[in-house]
Amino acid sequence: MASILIRGAVVMTMNERDDIFTGDVLIENNRIARLGERLDEVAADRVIDAGGKVLLPGFVQTHIHLCQTLFRGRADDLSLIEWLKEKIWPLEAAHSEDSVYYSAMLGIGELIRSGTTTILDMETVHHTESAFRAIEESGIRAISGKVMMDHGEEVPIALQENTRQSLQESVDLLEKWHGAAGGRIRYAFCPRFVVSCTEELLIGVRDLSAEYGVMVHTHASENLGEIELVEAERGMRNVVYLDHIGLARPNLILAHSIWLDEEEKRIIRERGVKVTHCPGSNLKLASGVAEVPLLLESGVAVGLGADGAPCNNNLDMFQEMRLTAYMQKVRHGPTVMNARTVLRMATMGGARVLGMEADIGSIEIGKLADLQLLDLEDFHVYPSFEADWHSRVVYAATRGDVDTVLIDGRIVMEGKTVKTVDKRIVL
Ligand code: GUN
Ligand code: FE
Repeated sequence: MASILIRGAVVMTMNERDDIFTGDVLIENNRIARLGERLDEVAADRVIDAGGKVLLPGFVQTHIHLCQTLFRGRADDLSLIEWLKEKIWPLEAAHSEDSVYYSAMLGIGELIRSGTTTILDMETVHHTESAFRAIEESGIRAISGKVMMDHGEEVPIALQENTRQSLQESVDLLEKWHGAAGGRIRYAFCPRFVVSCTEELLIGVRDLSAEYGVMVHTHASENLGEIELVEAERGMRNVVYLDHIGLARPNLILAHSIWLDEEEKRIIRERGVKVTHCPGSNLKLASGVAEVPLLLESGVAVGLGADGAPCNNNLDMFQEMRLTAYMQKVRHGPTVMNARTVLRMATMGGARVLGMEADIGSIEIGKLADLQLLDLEDFHVYPSFEADWHSRVVYAATRGDVDTVLIDGRIVMEGKTVKTVDKRIVL
């Protein structure tokens, strides 16, 4: 049995009680086997001396487009629909098998380097197989799927799909990849957004996702122009329409969800729909400020995501946590969305969104060993037993402080070098 002992770290468990202790963590195979102040009698295959370092659960990012990593810098000064039409869709249409692979590998390298160990990803129409290959080889934990687009005059011909073919290709990918790599890889249906999907496609997704027991990952109510398009065509607001079709269920994950009316909030709450907040993207595309505190207070599971790299961000969860806090503080005052709350969103919150709270999101015995070790030695702080670790991690740590990352009990980054990815992308 392979075992790793992480010794002497400040362990931020992110468990229900938010316990923090200085001590040891033993990993056996891919799970956390023991926690304690000193596990001296253990003879592990590998010992990591983590004295003075901070051990956290790996971040769980619940909205990413790995295929867009190579498009960074193409999002200037446009709002959602124009940006998709002018910048993103033509580039997605031009993607090749190789370019999707490299785009995914680059994105995964950045994600791991900034402490993210699980992602919910949405690919483009073609070459999703390449992204799954990159996910498999890199070692990251991922739920991914091909994007589905069978509707909309604005969509380039090269991305327009036939409804049956879109559903069939999704099922083929699902059957190949769902549960692959010892369960580290899963499939989710990804109808892009209502604007690009026929009702027939969405009904197909509703039935197939129930049949296979998988998640549905889409964008909803990100932008006022998008909402107008949905209302003009379907005669209803976005989430009301998804509910009308029967898609508003606990396996539905909505990215953004900024412009929700009272009925939509009620539907999300009552049906157990999950939400992903993407603050960096919402700022860059001037989409708006989501009502995150209100959603959290009403018991909705809300995770955090960077969205695609062109939304002027670098897939960095440290940045997304800070932006989440700043955006709400400026509106509602300093006590709203404190450091503890945003750190929970980045860990257990994401795990809840994915329905994986029994396996990831916190450091507890029996959970999968998805961990990040931060080296905060350079911090110039007055030594104190009352260090506010949540505040330090959220407001002062950066991705450059991530030293070691484990996913599924495997060391994927060590000494600030991503071992599983860099060798493949340095040409
Ligand atoms: N809505 C539909 N497609 C997209 C996308 O690629 N990115 C964002 N941010 N919103 C979308
Ligand atoms: Fe997105």
